[in-house]
Amino acid sequence: MKMTWPLSTRRLCLRPVLATDIDAYARMWADPTVVRYLYHGVLDRAGSVDKLSERTGNGELAVGHWLNLAVELHGEVIGDVGLHLQEGPHRQAQVGYTFLRSVQGQGLATEAVGAVVDLAFASGHVHRVSGSLDARNARSAAVLSRLGFRHEATLVDNEFIKGEWTSEAIYAITAAEWIRAQGSPRPF
Ligand SMILES: CC(C)(COP(=O)(O)OP(=O)(O)OC[C@H]1O[C@@H](n2cnc3c(N)ncnc32)[C@H](O)[C@@H]1OP(=O)(O)O)[C@@H](O)C(=O)NCCC(=O)NCCS
Repeated sequence: MKMTWPLSTRRLCLRPVLATDIDAYARMWADPTVVRYLYHGVLDRAGSVDKLSERTGNGELAVGHWLNLAVELHGEVIGDVGLHLQEGPHRQAQVGYTFLRSVQGQGLATEAVGAVVDLAFASGHVHRVSGSLDARNARSAAVLSRLGFRHEATLVDNEFIKGEWTSEAIYAITAAEWIRAQGSPRPF
């Protein structure tokens, strides 16, 4: 699906990730607090360059691929939101998101993730959007709960990450639930 960029929200602009966004991404991924519950640890500049190169794309929403968007506030990149459309008949999608520590606590992640969930359902392809997170990642769980996602499961000790067993919490919302929720004021 061809998209028109940027995607604007009340405070933010979302657009495909560029290699020139490296300074902001390197800052996010060098912060131990930010990467605490991600699959990878702290990255140095070279590691960030490698990882960022996996996120740059043509900005198309395509089944079987991640669409990674840089989130800008006043022209500065402050975070990253990803949307993955799964292949197959089930019409499922996943979201992922990471923000600089300096901008957290203002509802910006909720605003950006909400826009991407809107995009997913507006595509007409997606029936359900889910987010998976380390069960200890309360801030991430709060983003999805604020948007109306349901806590569907916690898989106990199902992953071994950075030397420890971790539990994965799964949150989700269906297209019908999302559309119904649009009748009430959005949290952003
Ligand atoms: C997960 C993450 C994006 C959440 O960030 P966050 O700042 O907590 O989320 P938001 O930007 O939505 O901000 C929510 C906070 O802003 C407040 N807020 C202020 N204005 C708001 C508004 N208009 N709308 C919603 N919340 C608002 C909320 O009350 C909440 O405050 P609290 O932190 O005191 O509870 C962030 O912690 C992060 O990047 N973590 C590291 C990476 C990571 O773990 N990613 C998830 C992997 S699954």
